[in-house]
Amino acid sequence: MAAKVELTTRELKPGFGAEILGVDLAQADAETLKAVTEVFQNSGAILLRGQKMGPGDLMAFINQFGEPEGHTLGEYTLPGYPKIYVLSNRIVDGRPIGAHNDGVVWHTDYSYRQEPVMCTMLYAVEVPPVGSDTLLADIVAAYNALPEARREALDDLVVHHSFQYFMESRVYGKAETSPELFAQNPDVFHPLIRRHPQDGRKALWVSTGTVKGIVGMPEPEGAQLVDELVAFATQDEFVFRHRWEVGDVLMWDNRCTLHTGTLFDDTKYIRQMHRLWVKGDRPLAANGQPVFAPAA
Ligand code: SIN
Repeated sequence: MAAKVELTTRELKPGFGAEILGVDLAQADAETLKAVTEVFQNSGAILLRGQKMGPGDLMAFINQFGEPEGHTLGEYTLPGYPKIYVLSNRIVDGRPIGAHNDGVVWHTDYSYRQEPVMCTMLYAVEVPPVGSDTLLADIVAAYNALPEARREALDDLVVHHSFQYFMESRVYGKAETSPELFAQNPDVFHPLIRRHPQDGRKALWVSTGTVKGIVGMPEPEGAQLVDELVAFATQDEFVFRHRWEVGDVLMWDNRCTLHTGTLFDDTKYIRQMHRLWVKGDRPLAANGQPVFAPAA
């Protein structure tokens, strides 16, 4: 049954996302929260400004969307809250309290797992006056903008994702790894074109970072195709740029968006975000089926 509360919203950009106005998430009743989740499901991304949320409020809110997901690198979770990951450049007693520049490439979260996260939520605790914007790309619109013959040519392609490759090749947000961590995160294979389980929309679910290649395509052609498609999907016409204010909550559906963080002057400013994830499903290809690892 649809929620009874009608919310005031405005699009983040034409045809994509919604800013929800006049809702205090920490105080909202069950019907209002249900209406917020419905706006999220129909929009691909939501923004609520001016929130005041402690860790308990964040956990209560994320639970509205599904089961919270854990984090591969445990050292930067908030003490007492293993599902809240801290993004920060703050150093306390000589030790960083969070991951710095963690997502500064176009990507979709947890793509190195068989079941990548459904959605990502960021809550702004402290933000610089300039820089560190988060960009979201509407990759359903990008897919639909491709010529039909190109869409058909891409529909069956399979992408090789690798956590080890990601950690060893990343430029920003480098972190400690170990052979055990790599063994716990073996390579996975996902469709290039992802069908949304809710309504069948197809998304150009390309990514960088974890992408090691395209199955059956030699290098450098595979990498060139990935670069070309990322450049296509992240053109201004498909991208919403979010300029942060303290108290902002931004959430996006990883099944139909790509995102990237951006740099800021970290010698002058502190940025601190709390990030929460919701567990997701095995991605479906354009034909509605999951893809499998190629025969060795
Ligand atoms: C992320 O990729 O999860 C974080 C993006 C950001 O910090 O803006």
